[in-house]
Amino acid sequence: MSKREIAGMRVLVTGASTGIGRALAVELVRQGACCVVLARGEERLSEAVEACRTVDPEARVEVIVGDVTDVAVRKAAIEKAVTSFGGLDAVVNNAGVGSFGRFADAKPERLRHIMEVNFFAAVDLIHEALPALRQGKNPIVVNVGSILGHRGIPRMYEYCSSKFALQGFSQSLRVELQAEGIDLLMVSPGTTETPFYDNVVHGRGNVPWNKGKGTPVEKVAKKMVAGMQQGRREIVPNFLGQWLIRANRHVPHLVDWYLQRFA
Ligand SMILES: NC(=O)c1ccc[n+]([C@@H]2O[C@H](COP(=O)([O-])OP(=O)(O)OC[C@H]3O[C@@H](n4cnc5c(N)ncnc54)[C@H](OP(=O)(O)O)[C@@H]3O)[C@@H](O)[C@H]2O)c1
Repeated sequence: MSKREIAGMRVLVTGASTGIGRALAVELVRQGACCVVLARGEERLSEAVEACRTVDPEARVEVIVGDVTDVAVRKAAIEKAVTSFGGLDAVVNNAGVGSFGRFADAKPERLRHIMEVNFFAAVDLIHEALPALRQGKNPIVVNVGSILGHRGIPRMYEYCSSKFALQGFSQSLRVELQAEGIDLLMVSPGTTETPFYDNVVHGRGNVPWNKGKGTPVEKVAKKMVAGMQQGRREIVPNFLGQWLIRANRHVPHLVDWYLQRFA
């Protein structure tokens, strides 16, 4: 894992129309990177580009509107970086969705949908981007997981499964990519102030532990960019998230006991 300059980097960010992805694009642009931003919401993406131009009126930002599970959309985003910026140095797999509800009442299609967006699209995008990344300057893959990729919680089994899968895949891939000089940063946020819980595909408004305020999204974005810069393996940007991971390592039965109230 190596240190890198953010200025001049050519970065593809998925799920950049709102939340963490949008804040990340703004922070990258502030520090002199060029970005291809991808998401389904055209209007929301335009607002994200506006936000980038607020911090740098000359910002080089290209837009790809589409679903990250669509291979043509992913390939168009890679192509856009190559044709507009002359190459690709970083892929940020940030697009993600959640769902809320008990396993016994769940529809299997929901698990498949969430795995497609949160896991398979990220795996496929990395595979498709590898040839461009190999030609990139100090290349890096950034996978946005979650603290729920370290510790499963009740009523979010689809989401937890997808984030554990992404974590396992990332650990395996990091070692393989090291030989090629490509870094892999895992980002495992805890609750962050974004519309994430309003966008869940099932069970909106039903999330009992989401009463408190999350970490400000700009703070998470700054930590992500610092993690890319410093060549970190993984960052857990929220204090409570770090606490949960530690508690689960040392006293998992107490964490089970605490989470029972949400089951
Ligand atoms: N907020 C939290 O507390 C938290 C905690 C841990 C981890 N995370 C992770 O952080 C990442 C970003 O989430 P967020 O909190 O910023 O939530 P968010 O504001 O809802 O952002 C999700 C982003 O993903 C995009 N997206 C969703 N489905 C997509 C699809 N099929 N194709 C393309 N883009 C898609 C959305 O854009 P469109 O709807 O316009 O397509 C949006 O830009 C996710 O991977 C999430 O799991 C969030």
